[in-house]
Amino acid sequence: MENMSKNGKEKKVLLTEDEMPKKWYNINPDLPRPLDPPRHPQTGEILRPEDLAMIFPMALIEQEVSQERYIDIPSELLEIYRIWRPTPLVRAERLENYLETPAKIYYKNESVSPPGSHKPNTAVAQAYYNKKEGTLRLTTETGAGQWGSALAFACNLIGLELTVYMVRVSYEQKPYRKIMMEVWGAEVLPSPTNRTSSGRGILEKNPNSPGSLGIAISEAVEDAVKSEGTKYSLGSVLNHVILHQTIVGLETKKQFEKLGIYPDVLVGCVGGGSNFGGFAFPFVPDKLKGKDIRIVAVEPLACPSLTKGPYAYDYGDTAKMAPIVKMYTLGHNFVPPPIHAGGLRYHGMAPQVSLLHNEGIIEAVAYHQNPVFEAAITFAKTEGIIPAPETAHAIRFVIDEALRCRESGEEKVIAFNFSGHGHFDLSAYEAYLGGKLEDYEYSDEKIKESLKDLPKV
Ligand SMILES: Cc1ncc(COP(=O)(O)O)c(C=O)c1O
Repeated sequence: MENMSKNGKEKKVLLTEDEMPKKWYNINPDLPRPLDPPRHPQTGEILRPEDLAMIFPMALIEQEVSQERYIDIPSELLEIYRIWRPTPLVRAERLENYLETPAKIYYKNESVSPPGSHKPNTAVAQAYYNKKEGTLRLTTETGAGQWGSALAFACNLIGLELTVYMVRVSYEQKPYRKIMMEVWGAEVLPSPTNRTSSGRGILEKNPNSPGSLGIAISEAVEDAVKSEGTKYSLGSVLNHVILHQTIVGLETKKQFEKLGIYPDVLVGCVGGGSNFGGFAFPFVPDKLKGKDIRIVAVEPLACPSLTKGPYAYDYGDTAKMAPIVKMYTLGHNFVPPPIHAGGLRYHGMAPQVSLLHNEGIIEAVAYHQNPVFEAAITFAKTEGIIPAPETAHAIRFVIDEALRCRESGEEKVIAFNFSGHGHFDLSAYEAYLGGKLEDYEYSDEKIKESLKDLPKV
């Protein structure tokens, strides 16, 4: 009885290894209109695939622009995915009971991967394609440290060196993530560093800069462009990253099919959009065909790109090294306040997620960090797992929606992506429990100011 839910159905919906999807889903051919083409950061011209070859292997560039609806997952990668996949879809029944809601809450538990989040789904794929094309070393940035540790895990498995530019505020708040990366053999530097001209430029203006994902990306890209045998790897935002993450949503779809139900509301937190996109995109074609399903992206009020930014062309990074893409953005110079959800401190949003938001296919909401941590603690006390602060943004919305269902009596099925655990974020929990977390709301004036520097395209 312990494992049985109220309906006599399992608490955990599992897939066998054989049932794991063998292809990723590419949303490009199903978007309601084509993405606006990315532009070269220096010339403003439409970017050619060759322009990206300095920093990415060809296989990933091809995936970036592919119009194939499904792309085969190489068998070597399926072998690696088997280390932690398929991941369980779990009924959060104790949370439902606590909330006294008629809603049914499910979470896709991506925290079971060795680094503790969804990030290795793309990290192992990127390391694999790089290795195949002869890359010796990768560079990357990391905010929360989740992405850096996922790539360190992947590079170690696949046999590549790795340098990680870690946003300084997270480097200081999360020393254990740094050690984890070092255990897997990566070199970890607090960004901004003196190693790159972009880092030095920032430090000259502000020696105490807390760093940002935009700055760390500039440093990692510069290092890759200037070093032999070295390429760059990005943990979010790009089409190929979300493509690799769709294994999450494809598994979730199969799991709901096993249950014989279809979710009413899908929820994910958004930093650059990869866990949200990977979870939700496989459901978008059903929505486009008329299925009544809400798809909700949740972001911090301290870095509200979807809810407060314009939909415009902007640089992907602070030093204007990365391509200019059409997205919801707070401006490439925007340095978000040092909230604890480090992985949600990115000024822009994935172009595919942005387009779907602009078309009204997905919705977005934003929260302050105190109510987010309150939701995280409710989840930890009812379901047991301590969520990453990023993931807790999704949980805040899920709880609010379940409480609305309590008022209305609706038995909605709410599913969210449990993107990662918070075992290395305990200093953030300590701050919350001690009443020391500040809620930052970025003023409209400040946003207006950083938007002055948008490129003219
Ligand atoms: C656990 C977790 N969830 C979510 C995110 C946000 O990234 P994305 O929007 O690409 O999923 C991060 C980023 O570091 C993360 O570590």
